[in-house]
Amino acid sequence: MTDFIVEVQGLCVQFGSFFAVKDVSFCVPRGEIFGFLGANGAGKTTTIRVICGLLPATKGSVIVDGEPFLPGREDRIKAKVGYMSQRFTLYEDLTVGENLDFAAMLHQVSGALYKQRKEDLFAMIQFNRTERTMVADLPSGTKQQVALVASLIHDPNLVVLDEPTAGVSPVSRQKFWELIHQLAAKGKTIFVTTHYMDEAENCNRIVLMRSGEIIALGTPKDLEKETFPKPMFRLLPKSDLSTEQLKNFKEQCELFMPYGRYFHVIFPKEGLVPPLFQEHFSVESIAPSLEDVFIQKVEGDRSW
Ligand SMILES: Nc1ncnc2c1ncn2[C@@H]1O[C@H](COP(=O)(O)OP(=O)(O)O)[C@@H](O)[C@H]1O
Ligand SMILES: [Mg+2]
Repeated sequence: MTDFIVEVQGLCVQFGSFFAVKDVSFCVPRGEIFGFLGANGAGKTTTIRVICGLLPATKGSVIVDGEPFLPGREDRIKAKVGYMSQRFTLYEDLTVGENLDFAAMLHQVSGALYKQRKEDLFAMIQFNRTERTMVADLPSGTKQQVALVASLIHDPNLVVLDEPTAGVSPVSRQKFWELIHQLAAKGKTIFVTTHYMDEAENCNRIVLMRSGEIIALGTPKDLEKETFPKPMFRLLPKSDLSTEQLKNFKEQCELFMPYGRYFHVIFPKEGLVPPLFQEHFSVESIAPSLEDVFIQKVEGDRSW
């Protein structure tokens, strides 16, 4: 039997008459990098806040690392989860050391154990400044890594990262994903939300959310195959095309999705590029990406 670290069944979260999360169910096996994707307002942070023991569910059940979410017992869940919120969670007007002291105090980590953890985690992020540096003076990439350290100070089995790479440079994003892989290799389970589809390819499995509901769940490869069972092509127009022409091309395709200067296209007859298309476009065969899946599932025909 699979060992799940997170089990969510029929989760609903209501604010007034508005459902931010509607009947969401999923399980996260221990040791996975589990991605949560969806546009702004999809309900990602709300789901996360329940998993971290910060917000009670309106309906449904949540079990985290064997601990059910029960009123009055939220602390047991909080102890099991390392949470990095959307805004990095650090106090800007305190030093790095003071921030970590605070996180350690909250989680009742002290003495030699705290010192050792801090040393190990600083080594992991290759922190090369003094602990007396003010957080406000750190570059955003380093700030994000220190926030990660703060969320790991009690050595949680589950690490929940809410858009950890929003607003940092591409190089820092890449470094951060290396850290995520290191943590996963050590047996931690990572639950991460992101807007960046290229990052989502790093996940073992992903959930796509829209308007509080799960609309897809699986490995990136499975979702790509399942959403686009027929071959996909990338078309570059050889010359400018009129709206009328584009409409005509679109009508002959199962999928005709604008993509910058290109179109991602699926033809009704598997693998057969109609001559009219060969005439007007340079055609190249491509593998669908998660971004294609996302656009198709989340935006569908609204992208037109
Ligand atoms: N405390 C709250 N009170 C009322 N509405 C909320 C509250 N928190 C979130 N929402 C609403 O719930 C929806 C989902 O929000 P959120 O979970 O933050 O989405 P995401 O993290 O995917 O961007 C949004 O429409 C948001 O405005
Ligand atoms: Mg959010």
